[in-house]
Amino acid sequence: MAFDLDMIQRVYANLGKRVEAARQAVGKPLTLSEKILYSHLFNGETTQAFERGKAYVDFAPDRVAMQDATAQMALLQFMQAGRPKVAVPSTVHCDHLIQAEVGAEKDLDIAKNKNKEVYDFLASVSDKYGIGFWKPGGGIIHQVVLENYAFPGGMMIGTDSHTPMAGGLGMIAIGVGGADACDVMAGLAWELKMPKLIGVKLTGKLSGWSSAKDVILRVAGILTVKGGTGCIVEYFGEGAETLSAAGKGTICNMGAEIGATTSIFGYDDKMGDYLRATNRGDIADAAQAVKADLRADEEVYADPASYYDQLIEINLSELEPHINGPFTPDLAWPLSNFAKAVKENNWPAKLEVGLIGSCTNSSYEDMTRSASVAAQATAKHLKTKAEFTVTPGSELVRFTAERDGLLDTFEEIGGVVLANACGPCIGQWARHMDDPTRKNSIITSFNRNFAKRNDGNASTHAFVASPEIVTAFAIAGDLTFNPMTDTLTNENGEQVKLDEPQGIEQPVKGYAVDDAGYQAPAEDGSGVQVLVSPTSDRLQLLAPFAPWEGTDLKGLKLLIKAKGKCTTDHISMAGPWLKYRGHLDNISNNMLIGAVNFYNEKTNSVKNQLTGEYGEVPAVQRAYKAAGIGSIVVGDENYGEGSSREHAAMEPRFLGVRAILVRSFARIHETNLKKQGMLALTFANPADYDKIQEDDVIDIDGLTEFAPGRPLEIVLHHADGTTDEFPVNHTYNEGQIEWFKAGAALNIIRMKQNA
Ligand code: F3S
Repeated sequence: MAFDLDMIQRVYANLGKRVEAARQAVGKPLTLSEKILYSHLFNGETTQAFERGKAYVDFAPDRVAMQDATAQMALLQFMQAGRPKVAVPSTVHCDHLIQAEVGAEKDLDIAKNKNKEVYDFLASVSDKYGIGFWKPGGGIIHQVVLENYAFPGGMMIGTDSHTPMAGGLGMIAIGVGGADACDVMAGLAWELKMPKLIGVKLTGKLSGWSSAKDVILRVAGILTVKGGTGCIVEYFGEGAETLSAAGKGTICNMGAEIGATTSIFGYDDKMGDYLRATNRGDIADAAQAVKADLRADEEVYADPASYYDQLIEINLSELEPHINGPFTPDLAWPLSNFAKAVKENNWPAKLEVGLIGSCTNSSYEDMTRSASVAAQATAKHLKTKAEFTVTPGSELVRFTAERDGLLDTFEEIGGVVLANACGPCIGQWARHMDDPTRKNSIITSFNRNFAKRNDGNASTHAFVASPEIVTAFAIAGDLTFNPMTDTLTNENGEQVKLDEPQGIEQPVKGYAVDDAGYQAPAEDGSGVQVLVSPTSDRLQLLAPFAPWEGTDLKGLKLLIKAKGKCTTDHISMAGPWLKYRGHLDNISNNMLIGAVNFYNEKTNSVKNQLTGEYGEVPAVQRAYKAAGIGSIVVGDENYGEGSSREHAAMEPRFLGVRAILVRSFARIHETNLKKQGMLALTFANPADYDKIQEDDVIDIDGLTEFAPGRPLEIVLHHADGTTDEFPVNHTYNEGQIEWFKAGAALNIIRMKQNA
């Protein structure tokens, strides 16, 4: 069903000669990332070296994966491209639209009912165009990909920012917007700026309460949410070879939290073990035969500082468990300092909910380590103080965990097993709470903890840790508890201590599943009807964006000057809005409603320059659109960090915003803006951000000579009659300028298909 051995063997057959050609071109030994990137050039073997951090390169990924929220728009776009079938193996995974409320079975039934038209659309469009379809309940995209599709030395793109999880099996896997997925499924090249490389050398070996999760929590603390931007993080060293493939997956998954393009480990025996355990011994054998090309050259490992742009070293033997948060995943606290931080910062010490699982941490190993902690609560007569939820990452893991009694262990301490889906991780959580605005603390084994991410409450302090630490904290119900040193009082009034967690990497009896949740597409889909109702409020066929009018842009209104962090969650909020992912007009009503207006420090309240009144951001923008007036959004550093959702780019484009001008962009979002034909600009001098005033009318000059590397010019017409002028930079190459001129990248794809 799942893997495509022929395709993988083709990749391996070309690998040796392509790597050698790249080695000649680069003129020195190669890192693993370079080997995979150069062996996936769209034009095959190369005689040319590409400068890291500078050159735009065309690639030919082997696979595409899409989750159900982003797949809708990706496939609505693909339908416009005019092809009978996808050009590369592709899959759709129904994981984002299932709300967690009471437990797996009931929640899943409700979701199937509520999202029927979306699931019917995705199932029918997959059937028609040759795409593998994972039904709701089958699992979370990244875990399912790791179990079925990821392979060492491969290259994949996925319409979700945690796609890099497949790096745990030695694959270059990159989170993109739906527009990129559309390109690759249409057989076109996929463009990426040649990433820089950060090497992370792991020495020593984990023990006790420390786990793979703590590696990435520590790395996030070192590099911060911006530190990986434009980079691939490559892990190596003898410590790397001690980590299970699933643990490596966790580390690569959360590389998204440092803004990394992706993260990767070289092929080793742990990957072979995982491939064999998940019924892919053929791939393990094939990988073993080309192992030297699925790792960096030995010279690189011997002298990494000469080959990576940045080098970090972590000794696993000394690594403490970490807890990161609140509100940002790079606020890293070693366990021994955490209680003090909780007290000093006045964070609510009472822990209300512990949530384990999600795509990040729901391997069999994670489940066994957490269950070994949970079992102690029962054995040592401890009453679990916090609520506790368990989100298995796939039906394969869930079924196996149930068979092996792990789910019973969780339920015995009051744990609620949720559906194999994103649920609380993406805000799909009907949390039971007396006051949904109350200040409170939760801890998860997920990856992301921005304000409102899990339950929509800005006062929820969300912390991130390994599942075993989350389990221990849930039992204690107290964030100042340190399971390594502290005791708890049990129901008999005795002081008891939790023993270190024990895990099993692969199930002793093997994985088992009844119905994994996979549906293969029709061999010939030409007769299959794609189901989209014209009256649907959740799905809407797309109309092309208008091409550039050929002139400079004059008289734009300032829509919002966003202050501070403005992630894709702030630009296009998830939670209740997820249901409109396939309906551009409807979802546009969430545009920028989470961004803080610089002038009044409020969210979703901006001045309508036509009336002088304050209104909601989407409503004000619709008023400008109705009046035929363009607008501009101004932002701060790392604008658009967080996720790959192209809605954050499509909504402003659809509502008539003409440019996004910021101090700096997160990579995926900047590319998404370009794909949609939007101007993505950065202040040449970041201090010019301060020159923007609330009532400004703005011109963008220089567009008639729009060219790579040539700055554009901004003219601010202030309300008092004065003006300011300054240059702004962009990173458009020739091809991307064509996207801008055509109105969107998709407009060019269609023209080429029709040519
Ligand atoms: Fe889903 Fe959360 Fe992972 S939204 S894909 S479980 S990061």
